[in-house]
Amino acid sequence: MRSQTACVAAKTYLIQIMGKRQEYNITYIIRLIINERLRSIIFSSFLLPCVYLLSQASTLAAFQESFPIPLPTIFFHQLAWSDYYDKTATARDPHPTLQKALFFLKNDNIANGLAVDLGCGTGRDTLFLLENGWNVFAIDAEEQAIAILLNRINENQSARLTVAVISFADMLLPEGVSLINASFSLPFCSPDHFQDCWQKIFENLVIGGMFCGHFFGDRDEWANKPFMTHHTYAQLMNLFSDRFEIKYFLQEEGALPTAVGVKNHWHIFHVVAKKVR
Ligand SMILES: C[S@@+](CC[C@H](N)C(=O)[O-])C[C@H]1O[C@@H](n2cnc3c(N)ncnc32)[C@H](O)[C@@H]1O
Repeated sequence: MRSQTACVAAKTYLIQIMGKRQEYNITYIIRLIINERLRSIIFSSFLLPCVYLLSQASTLAAFQESFPIPLPTIFFHQLAWSDYYDKTATARDPHPTLQKALFFLKNDNIANGLAVDLGCGTGRDTLFLLENGWNVFAIDAEEQAIAILLNRINENQSARLTVAVISFADMLLPEGVSLINASFSLPFCSPDHFQDCWQKIFENLVIGGMFCGHFFGDRDEWANKPFMTHHTYAQLMNLFSDRFEIKYFLQEEGALPTAVGVKNHWHIFHVVAKKVR
């Protein structure tokens, strides 16, 4: 009798479990479908735009102007340059374009004078100019870069160095400059200000003076970044056609390392040009 009751109880229990499991299965499947839908809705309506916005740093920079809160890209920008400065804080090797410019100037009997270093960063080119007896006006938009540069110069050099934390858009250049160096910096000038900036460069360079630096081409990986300025080969030649004679030109393209990682597709123009008119 007792075992019969136990048997009936066990059966009832089993039926209950199976019923629940069935119920559970159906609910589970419905939930899965809802979750899957929700996930794709969340993904397409929230995550994708976020990824897009993050890749378009200037869009967020524009946002920042309207909302004075520290948005991640601003932070990202600062982090990006900080990282670059950490990696180049002790770099001393000047860029070959600058070395070539000094060589051409020496050939023209200009051994020193006043040079401007645009977007000097931590100062690898500025230091080289100072070591070669030049007076240098070094500018950079980032205070951190200028602070590092100032820490790297000796007493003898400090009398020949003037610095400014200022953007290309707002800078004023001294007259009578014999050399303007812009190593990997002008592409970071926004297209809105580039023409103005270029005008300041050629107006303040003396005839016989030299420009040296880098531009990024239209096939560069960053060419779609709206806050940067890229040039086609023809546009670049146009910049120099009226007043300059190109003394050295190199077009480089491909996967190359950056100071802080790897960029899959660089397209760089290395230029040294003499102002002739
Ligand atoms: C790639 S780093 C090159 C630094 C240095 N010329 C070198 O070759 O090591 C570019 C530098 O340009 C500066 N820069 C970028 N945009 C600028 C702007 N609009 N005005 C002034 N400096 C700018 C950055 O702060 C950074 O230090």
